[in-house]
Amino acid sequence: MKHLTFIENLIFYILLLLVLFLILRAIPGESGTIFRSKHDLTYLNERAIAKGGVGAMEGISYIDYGEVCVYCHTPHGAISVAPLWNRVLPSTSGYSMYKSSTVDTNIPSSPDGVSLACLSCHDGTVAVDSVLNPPNTGWIDTGVHYRMSPETSGQSCGKCHTPQGELAGLYGAHDATVKYITKNLADDHPVSMNYPTVLQDPKFNTPPGTGVFVNGIRLFDGKVQCASCHDPHNPDEQNLEGRAPFLRTSKNYSNLCMTCHIK
Ligand code: HEC
Ligand code: HEC
Ligand code: HEC
Ligand code: HEC
Ligand code: HEC
Repeated sequence: MKHLTFIENLIFYILLLLVLFLILRAIPGESGTIFRSKHDLTYLNERAIAKGGVGAMEGISYIDYGEVCVYCHTPHGAISVAPLWNRVLPSTSGYSMYKSSTVDTNIPSSPDGVSLACLSCHDGTVAVDSVLNPPNTGWIDTGVHYRMSPETSGQSCGKCHTPQGELAGLYGAHDATVKYITKNLADDHPVSMNYPTVLQDPKFNTPPGTGVFVNGIRLFDGKVQCASCHDPHNPDEQNLEGRAPFLRTSKNYSNLCMTCHIK
């Protein structure tokens, strides 16, 4: 066999490094970091391309701000539903809340706090790039501002990401319908209600004074909110820890549910 020359060796190792680099970059959503997760709105095109699709997200469906945190947070001029919140909030009217004859707490007529923060993308009424304070420089407004709505046409992600969408199936866009929560919260676990006291309902574990259970499940000002169960920064996409999608603790053996419920 012919021995490789120094130059050939060098080229070989450079190519090897390049391949490793590309593979590492294509690894989506590692546990423990928001970077490259589905909540990294600067990375969705690369995720799409890694799966053999097209990059139809940042720069095309919405503004590419080139910064992960800015789609949700701002250092100045924030609103108080969640820490340093940077998003335009949905109107609180028009929600259907969970109803049941057996609930012991009062479920309010509209969501509040952190839940409203999540719904500013997930109810599909506000564009994903509708922020209060965009970065000063480094971005272009293409005039296209898609919402995470199941609508099948117009400025809606559902145009590609629902089975009925007008561009459905384009390069195999995944069906994201279940992630478009909409304003109908009647079919979702209740949110924005106070956690029951023992007198109201003895079938609940008493939360620690901090409102944060040892496994990370937490209350916000004494209430159950979307982020009680989900940590928007911490994916586990391969479900190696039983925490997909973005859950604070494993749902295996109903650990998540039994943090609060005694059943
Ligand atoms: C998709 C929206 C979203 C993005 C993007 C996002 N966050 Fe958050 N962040 C939230 C929400 C909602 C909360 C409140 C719920 C909570 O505490 O987990 C929060 C809370 C926080 C908190 C306070 C609570 C804590 O966990 O310590 C910090 C600090 C924070 N985010 C930092 C960041 C940084 C830094 C980035 C960018 C690398 C970032 N976030 C990106 C939604 C987001
Ligand atoms: C800036 C917009 C934005 C905000 C704010 C936001 N999300 Fe998301 N979320 C997304 C996008 C985009 C996806 C990916 C949708 C898809 O798969 O097409 C997503 C997906 C998810 C998923 C599914 C993840 C998976 O692996 O499929 C969960 C769970 C989730 N979000 C929960 C939340 C919660 C809880 C909050 C508030 C604490 C929140 N999100 C706030 C944009 C947002
Ligand atoms: C023109 C069609 C089109 C539009 C519009 C579109 N997407 Fe996509 N998207 C795709 C294709 C194709 C892929 C790659 C295949 C896949 O994973 O779905 C993709 C991939 C993604 C992924 C990565 C999925 C993964 O598992 O890695 C997310 C998240 C996503 N899109 C969210 C959105 C959001 C949020 C919007 C609206 C703001 C949107 N898309 C608008 C076509 C589209
Ligand atoms: C009581 C805990 C809890 C609360 C509160 C909660 N979720 Fe979830 N959520 C879950 C669990 C568990 C799953 C995973 C379901 C599964 O694996 O089928 C999930 C799944 C999701 C998904 C992905 C849909 C899917 O089936 O893949 C999204 C998006 C989401 N939640 C957003 C939200 C938003 C937004 C709120 C607030 C309005 C919220 N969640 C409140 C526990 C909760
Ligand atoms: C953070 C605490 C918490 C977690 C975690 C949690 N729940 Fe709940 N859940 C509540 C509270 C509080 C209520 C309202 C109970 C009431 O007022 O009677 C509730 C209500 C419910 C109800 C409606 C009860 C009724 O009478 O209609 C069901 C069903 C339910 N939860 C199932 C689940 C499941 C399944 C999980 C796991 C995926 C889960 N919960 C996780 C706190 C939690």
